[in-house]
Amino acid sequence: MEKGEDKHEEEQDQVVNPWEVTAKDGGKIDYDKLIDKFGCQRLEEPLVDRVQRLTGRPPHVFLRRGVFFAHRDFDEILNAYEKGKKFYLYTGRGPSSEALHLGHLVPFMFTKYLQDAFKVPLVIQLTDDEKCMWKNLSVEECQRLARENAKDIIACGFDITKTFIFSDFDYVGGSFYKNMVRIAKCVTYNKVVGIFGFSGEDHIGKVGFPPIQAAPSFPSSFPHLFSGKDDLRCLIPCAIDQDPYFRMTRDVAPRLGYHKPSLIESSFFPALQGETGKMSASDPNSAIYVTDSAKVIKNKINKYAFSGGQDSVEKHRELGANLEVDIPVKYLSFFLEDDAELEHIKTEYGAGRMLTGEVKKRLADVLTEVVDRHRAARAAVTEEMVDAFMAVRPLPNMFD
Ligand code: TRP
Repeated sequence: MEKGEDKHEEEQDQVVNPWEVTAKDGGKIDYDKLIDKFGCQRLEEPLVDRVQRLTGRPPHVFLRRGVFFAHRDFDEILNAYEKGKKFYLYTGRGPSSEALHLGHLVPFMFTKYLQDAFKVPLVIQLTDDEKCMWKNLSVEECQRLARENAKDIIACGFDITKTFIFSDFDYVGGSFYKNMVRIAKCVTYNKVVGIFGFSGEDHIGKVGFPPIQAAPSFPSSFPHLFSGKDDLRCLIPCAIDQDPYFRMTRDVAPRLGYHKPSLIESSFFPALQGETGKMSASDPNSAIYVTDSAKVIKNKINKYAFSGGQDSVEKHRELGANLEVDIPVKYLSFFLEDDAELEHIKTEYGAGRMLTGEVKKRLADVLTEVVDRHRAARAAVTEEMVDAFMAVRPLPNMFD
């Protein structure tokens, strides 16, 4: 059994699971504690350097700045890669809303970088079934949202010759289903309750769901892609709230004669109001959406972004900003690529020479550029392209 399965202990403290992310009262998410509790490993500098060496590319901002901060056996992926053995990437999205916010883009932007840097195939699971079971949404609505979300995902720039996107409602069956059943047989009811905290009031769809998210971790679930490649390793980039699924998956893998999937895990993109949780799709003022106009972005930042600056200009000049709690600086650390400029802002703002208003203005410009670029890319995605990415097909040159 891997660590981190005592849900009750977690409840008095911060709560991080696939359905809820809340910090301890008034505090921030304690990521060190999370690493301990879940039993994953911290992603240290030497591993980042190794990525650079092996791929011959500068590490992505999310890697150099510790947005992806934890892992499970990522070093094994790199060891194998070093010996000329490639792997495949697996990530996913639960399509529960039409419009994505910036936090939703983080894993996909990073996955796109990994695909380009390592030149490996990628499978993307759209768990329309999951959202249908967890939210009050119909089967048909979730299928529609899956297709809409696929457009946003494609807009992140994935290589169609290396990427397979699938919806559970359409794709589950055959070899994928066989793996689901193999996995399900290894997981007792007590175990799934221990990991996910289901109660007797939860419907059985929820209890039976985890094998569906586990199955893509095994190459034999995709015979049109990986037939005869049962030894291929899998790397899963995800936010750390998805860890419970893969803790379960890693637990059963050896019993099925499969490799455990490796994970590379990110922290959450915080809400505008502060770092107590993640951006919520249900509170429009907590998040910047990829559909927001420049004006809306500017207003949201000015009105809602929690500032570490002081109450008065005099006090601010004297004491400087508290960068630890400042959301504009936090957001810039995700999306401002220029390391020198970020350092400059931190120094000046932290010393009180730069004011909150100036930092917010720079942030509005940076995010507007990200959002505009995304909007243009999404507008160029046609229904035919969605069909092409989602077609069940071999990818003959996926390792080139
Ligand atoms: N459960 C995830 C969500 O609600 C979607 C998902 C499925 C996923 N498979 C994944 C996320 C693999 C990361 C990695 O968004």
